Amino acid sequence: MDSQDILGPAITIPPSRTPAEMACVYASNIISSIHAAQRLDSRGKPTVKVTITTGKGKFDAIVPSGASKGDYEALELRDGDPAFYGGNGVTKAVYNVEHVIGPALIEQKFDVRTDLSKIDEFMRKLDGTKEKSNLGANAILGVSMACARAAAAARDEPLYEFLRQQTGVTPNGYTLPVPFFNVLNGGAHSGNTMAFQEFMIAPVGAKSITQAVQMGSEVYQELKNVIKKQFGGAATGIGDEGGFAPPIRHPAEALDLLTTAVKNAGYEGKVKFGIDPAASEFFRKDVYDIGFKSERPEPLSRKDFMGLYNKLLKDYPIVLLEDPFAQDDWETWKEFNKTCPVELVGDDLLATNIERLALAKEHEACNSMLLKINQIGTISEAIAAAQKAYSYGWRVFVSHRSGETTDDFIADLAVGVGAGHLKSGSPCRGERVVKYNRLMDIEDEIAHRRGGHVYAGEKLSA
Ligand code: PGA
Ligand code: ZN
Repeated sequence: MDSQDILGPAITIPPSRTPAEMACVYASNIISSIHAAQRLDSRGKPTVKVTITTGKGKFDAIVPSGASKGDYEALELRDGDPAFYGGNGVTKAVYNVEHVIGPALIEQKFDVRTDLSKIDEFMRKLDGTKEKSNLGANAILGVSMACARAAAAARDEPLYEFLRQQTGVTPNGYTLPVPFFNVLNGGAHSGNTMAFQEFMIAPVGAKSITQAVQMGSEVYQELKNVIKKQFGGAATGIGDEGGFAPPIRHPAEALDLLTTAVKNAGYEGKVKFGIDPAASEFFRKDVYDIGFKSERPEPLSRKDFMGLYNKLLKDYPIVLLEDPFAQDDWETWKEFNKTCPVELVGDDLLATNIERLALAKEHEACNSMLLKINQIGTISEAIAAAQKAYSYGWRVFVSHRSGETTDDFIADLAVGVGAGHLKSGSPCRGERVVKYNRLMDIEDEIAHRRGGHVYAGEKLSA
């Protein structure tokens, strides 16, 4: 029996909606309440959670937080009261959402379906500073993320599809990103003496994100065995992003461990490497001190440091270098970029900020942008930065923060902006794997319902 039998004879539906119906559609697209609360991130530090309500339901977002923050990032507002979470409380940011942004935004009656850019611009003006230091980028971003979710719901679309339409630069259908798993943690993310912050494995030879996750996980487990054999079980503890942090010091030691793990897992040639030294952390005047975490300094001149990278690039299958130099060391970036054979990503260098991107373009300093939503503080500005990077012919690499949450927003963002690669830590720890799990869900959904998607693979782009 089809529905016509139940409903009886067909009735003519008027071509346009009645005023009452219109009011109902409208109500489903406007914000009726905005709330915020202080919750914890993966390091156990406070962060901001925002919940907005429209006629379509409630939409949450939780904001991430970095440890090796760049100087050009938007401001993360912390209370600074040492007696409360050691100064890390975010009750001021929570207050700003509840009592400043919330009431002002609700009064504007924006249509979330179409007005994300207007909402973000309104919050920027309400804050009135370049760095979002009045209201806090953590307050503003929480609202922006939750509004993006409400917008997707108002359009009856998944979040990645809404973000794809906002970006408007992904003509080749859907591209699932190559996951860069950060499996060895150093720098500001662990207690060992390794200066370089991240050593990542990238399953570029997989056929799908699901297979890439399998490869990443298998190599990760092999790496644990290799470390245990070489350094003992106590060395298999993990750092902030879920990677191991064994007592190693030199980058070549880390890459040797990865090489053995990849070989043992049977993925030689299919799993390549990426490195994020986060070099701003150990740039001292004119030298890079790769011994900065030990009692034995090991300062390298710019020339010697470039030489170290060139040797690593020669000896190992590295496909990406992120922040190999400090955020203001333009000359070295520029010099290295002239002959760099791999993707050269600006993180602290660019801070997801189009003004920094323009400077980097002027210097010809890099060929890729790391996209971190809390560096800039709104979703529309993050998308604008991605569009700008593409207009320069660069790649876009979507990233989590070392202080993460179980919010999986960036998985949808990576597909939405067609980034072709994403980093979300190791294939371990809930706040990391939630992004990889979401990407596998998206892959399944696209395969079953939308058709036509590809895994970025060696291209690392859409
Ligand atoms: P952060 O580290 O979140 O601590 O800044 C991540 C990165 O540098 O890419
Ligand atoms: Zn980085």
